[in-house]
Amino acid sequence: MNVFCVAFFISAQLQVLAFGFKRNATFRPNVVMVMSDAFDGRLTFDPGSRLVQLPFTKYLREQGAVFLNSYTNSPICCPSRAAMWSGRFVHLTESWNNHKCLDGNATTWMDDLRKNGYHTRSLGKLDFTSGGHSVSNRVEAWTRDVRFLLQQEGRPVTDLRGDETTVRVMTKDWKTTDIAVEWIRKTAASLSQPFALYLGLNLPHPYHTDSLGPTAGGSTFRTSPYWLKKVSYQNITVPKWLPFSKMHPVDYYSTYTKNCSGNFTEQEVRDIRAFYYAMCAEADAMLGVVQVRWWACSPCSTVLLFTSDHGDLAMEHRQFYKMSMFEGSSHVPLLLAGPGVKKGLQLPQPVSLVDIYPTLLDLAGIPTPAGLSGNSLLPLLSPAAVPPAEPRPDWAFSEYHGCNANASTYMLRQGRWKYIAYGDGLSVPAQLFDLSSDAEELHNMAARFPVVCQRLDSLLRRVVDYPAVSRKCSATAGRSSAAGGSAWGSSTQTSSAASAGTGTGRGTPKCTRAPSTSGWERSPAPNPVSAALLLSSAPRLQLQNHRLSF
Ligand SMILES: *[C@@H]1O[C@H](CO)[C@@H](O)[C@H](O)[C@H]1NC(C)=O
Ligand SMILES: *[C@@H]1O[C@H](CO)[C@@H](O)[C@H](O)[C@H]1NC(C)=O
Ligand SMILES: *[C@@H]1O[C@H](CO)[C@@H](O)[C@H](O)[C@H]1NC(C)=O
Ligand SMILES: *[C@@H]1O[C@H](CO)[C@@H](O)[C@H](O)[C@H]1NC(C)=O
Ligand SMILES: *[C@@H]1O[C@H](CO)[C@@H](O)[C@H](O)[C@H]1NC(C)=O
Ligand SMILES: *[C@@H]1O[C@H](CO)[C@@H](O)[C@H](O)[C@H]1NC(C)=O
Repeated sequence: MNVFCVAFFISAQLQVLAFGFKRNATFRPNVVMVMSDAFDGRLTFDPGSRLVQLPFTKYLREQGAVFLNSYTNSPICCPSRAAMWSGRFVHLTESWNNHKCLDGNATTWMDDLRKNGYHTRSLGKLDFTSGGHSVSNRVEAWTRDVRFLLQQEGRPVTDLRGDETTVRVMTKDWKTTDIAVEWIRKTAASLSQPFALYLGLNLPHPYHTDSLGPTAGGSTFRTSPYWLKKVSYQNITVPKWLPFSKMHPVDYYSTYTKNCSGNFTEQEVRDIRAFYYAMCAEADAMLGVVQVRWWACSPCSTVLLFTSDHGDLAMEHRQFYKMSMFEGSSHVPLLLAGPGVKKGLQLPQPVSLVDIYPTLLDLAGIPTPAGLSGNSLLPLLSPAAVPPAEPRPDWAFSEYHGCNANASTYMLRQGRWKYIAYGDGLSVPAQLFDLSSDAEELHNMAARFPVVCQRLDSLLRRVVDYPAVSRKCSATAGRSSAAGGSAWGSSTQTSSAASAGTGTGRGTPKCTRAPSTSGWERSPAPNPVSAALLLSSAPRLQLQNHRLSF
């Protein structure tokens, strides 16, 4: 059952794509954006793609452009999404952590598209405004400044469900995906105006660990044998770990609070990684059904974009989850295809999620508002695009102020270097990694290259006055915990749905909410369409040379 092999040619349609971007008064492309959660961007190109079959990110890469150095602006759900939706760095909107993010009325690129005649729809996980997470996310705002170590997360574990025919493990995501493709098929197809559709997935975020009670975060890597078979087990590496004595103090704090300071067997580590990759394969298939629908309807008029809020360390650096500037956590997928995007582009420029806002407005021919932190990617994607007035920066910036790291963290990626500064820039040593020779980021070169550090530190200070931001963040967190009593109460009341299942009783800080209704836009009851049905009924769709099995 469940196996459909579709085969045919995309011919004329792809010719259109090769022409470059021709926006004019009568043509504005539709936009379909799929954003997953915790997808390690390195898997979307070689050699990461040798670990697991991801046919749909691969196909998107072949039909359009993949960014090889794309970063989140803050490696945790809510702040990262706040940056993506608002187009501004998180210190500018004070989106410090999963508790304090954007106001509900903040302007997003989708608002701008809507004001300019687009029909817009967002489905699934949004999670960019304050209050969507549990109250314990508020506690984290001050425990990070308290000098003690507390194991805040459950130890990462694996959980195999179903059998070799179990395709839909993350059923909630599949349901939202069904709604999205049905929306494209029915609603979008009948529109006389351009549309923008956003689909937010929860996968491959680890699942809530039920045995640890309602306040636990997500430390369960769950999949089925169906998806595990897509993983190339023998190609999985067991990452090298530094001894505790050699770890950077903030990294050690993260390892400890993520409950990863105990012993793990090689088999355990390999399994956690395999399960994580299998979860990525399931997310890839969700992208796939949207992609199939996209090609069936309107590949020449619709830009398809795939990204994620952050990655997952999957036991690299003796950690799981994100909240770190290491590649596994901060490197996100960014792929685009459609009208105006050249085929087969692999772009090395450092970019980040704040670039999405000006890019989408540029595609739609809408002037960008002042104060955005990013730059349109269109000039990189299309030879026909209007060149930018000023060259885009040759760096990408990320920052982190949330839980499981005991100092505000600032990262600048430029060329081969990744520079990481902390707090006030004095009390915690900086880190410098040469990604060209040390992809695993095990050798801190800060002491060996003081001149490089100085140069990158002054560049960083031109982007953000980071000691001042660290002070402001700590002060804000201190103030809100002082006013804690009533704020907790009102938070529980106003977001009772969001808090359900995460509880407030134990007072143990938890960064990551259990999968709940929080951050999910309520959707009308779906008209269920199965992925398989969709694939089989898309006769115009041909993924050349791909055997798609569902
Ligand atoms: C606008 O672009 C569309 C698609 O490329 C084309 O069919 C149409 O003729 C163009 N209109 C003008 C006024 O250039
Ligand atoms: C494993 O990696 C090798 C190259 O390192 C590659 O040739 C092979 O196809 C990979 N296996 C799978 C199943 O992807
Ligand atoms: C959003 O609402 C807050 C008050 O809740 C207000 O201070 C702020 O100016 C509003 N922002 C926008 C963009 O309307
Ligand atoms: C933390 O890890 C230890 C083993 O290293 C385990 O015994 C303990 O149950 C874990 N705690 C949680 C909350 O998972
Ligand atoms: C963070 O925690 C580590 C481990 O306990 C400790 O060595 C370090 O001093 C702490 N750093 C800050 C800035 O609190
Ligand atoms: C981990 O293993 C080492 C060496 O085998 C041992 O010394 C240490 O006590 C173990 N740690 C825990 C938390 O069990």
